[in-house]
Order: sequence, then C-alpha cells, then structure tokens
Amino acid sequence: MNAIVVVDQNWAIGLEGGLLFSLPTDMKRFRTMTTGGTVVMGRKTFESFPGGRPLPNRRNIVITHNTDFSREGAEVAFSTEEALKMTESEDPNKLWIIGGGSVYATLLSRCERVYLTRVETQVEESDTYFPNLDKLPGWEVEQTGEPITENGFTYRFVDYINTKI
Ligand SMILES: NC(=O)c1ccc[n+]([C@@H]2O[C@H](COP(=O)([O-])OP(=O)(O)OC[C@H]3O[C@@H](n4cnc5c(N)ncnc54)[C@H](OP(=O)(O)O)[C@@H]3O)[C@@H](O)[C@H]2O)c1
Repeated sequence: MNAIVVVDQNWAIGLEGGLLFSLPTDMKRFRTMTTGGTVVMGRKTFESFPGGRPLPNRRNIVITHNTDFSREGAEVAFSTEEALKMTESEDPNKLWIIGGGSVYATLLSRCERVYLTRVETQVEESDTYFPNLDKLPGWEVEQTGEPITENGFTYRFVDYINTKI
C-alpha cells in the first residue's frame, strides 16, 4: 500500500481539521491515483470532506474508536489492524493511506511508497504533521517532479520509497 500527502517545507499537513493548501493539479492527481481503489483514513479526515460524504468511486474505510460511527458509503474499522484486515485481498497498488496525521504515523512503516507533494513554503500556522522522511531511516527519494506554480504556491511531486519492505 501507499500513502499520499501534501506537506509544506516543515512537513506540516493540516490546521484545525482542514488542509493547508488548495492546489488544483495536485487534487486532480490525487483523484486520478486513488479512483477505483481503496482509501483508508482517520475519522477526522473523513469529517473534513465536503458535506462529510465519502470520496466517490473509491472504497472508503474510516478508522474510529467510536462504535456508533456510521456513514452512508463508508466502511468503518475500529483499529488500523482491522482496516488492514479488511483490505487483505486488495491489490496493494490500489490501497491508499490518505491521512490524517495519526493514521499516517501509524501506517507509514507498512507503506511501500509515499507520493508526496512538497509545497515550497512554510505555513504560519499548523497543528498536524507528517513524519520527516528525509530523517527517517529506510526512506529514499525515488523521483522528483518539475515545479508547478498554482494559486501563488510552487510545489513538486516527490516520490519516496520504503527500502525496508
Ligand atoms: N496534507 C494532507 O495531505 C492531508 C491529508 C489528510 C488529512 N490532512 C489533515 O490532517 C488533519 C487530521 O489529522 P489528525 O491526525 O488530526 O486526524 P485523523 O488521523 O484524520 O483522524 C484521527 C481520528 O482517527 C481515529 N483513529 C486514528 N487512529 C486510530 C486507531 N488506531 N484506532 C481507532 N481509531 C483511530 C480516531 O477517531 P475517533 O476520535 O473517532 O475515535 C482519531 O481521533 C486535518 O487537518 C486534515 O486536513 C492533511
């Protein structure tokens, strides 16, 4: 399985339950890569979606401790292990960890690749972070894309590979 994430230069990913950036080409890539597959996420990330609805044309798995949690179009797992069990028979290339901070942190070591979008800025405020892959043993940059400038931000797609699995 793989993770997909947008970070700033300090590996910040979110503030007050929301994203830090709105980047159309990045969003399009996210949609293209994950459509037809399975997305696994924490409850807070799910709640941040427009209208609190699941992402269309994907199997949505939401991790929560809340046994009463139920949303149309989403499946619920009560632990990361349960989420992985539910996806055992899936093609690993179509299994996506999409956040947020807590779920990335727990499942990162199980991911084969991280498809990262690095925005060349340092946001003023953030409360959620992705692990710094440049300091984490076992992670190497596989390829770095050309810069894209949109909405006043310059960013690149950087693919990291987990050399430990
Ligand atoms: N930049 C990006 O690419 C990106 C991507 C995704 C999200 N984000 C941002 O990240 C932030 C959200 O991240 P977050 O860390 O605060 O929240 P999160 O990971 O989205 O969700 C956390 C919730 O997931 C559930 N959970 C997590 N681990 C669990 C486990 N092992 N067992 C059972 N339940 C578990 C819990 O839900 P309950 O409280 O219901 O028990 C927990 O409160 C937002 O700002 C969002 O916009 C950024």
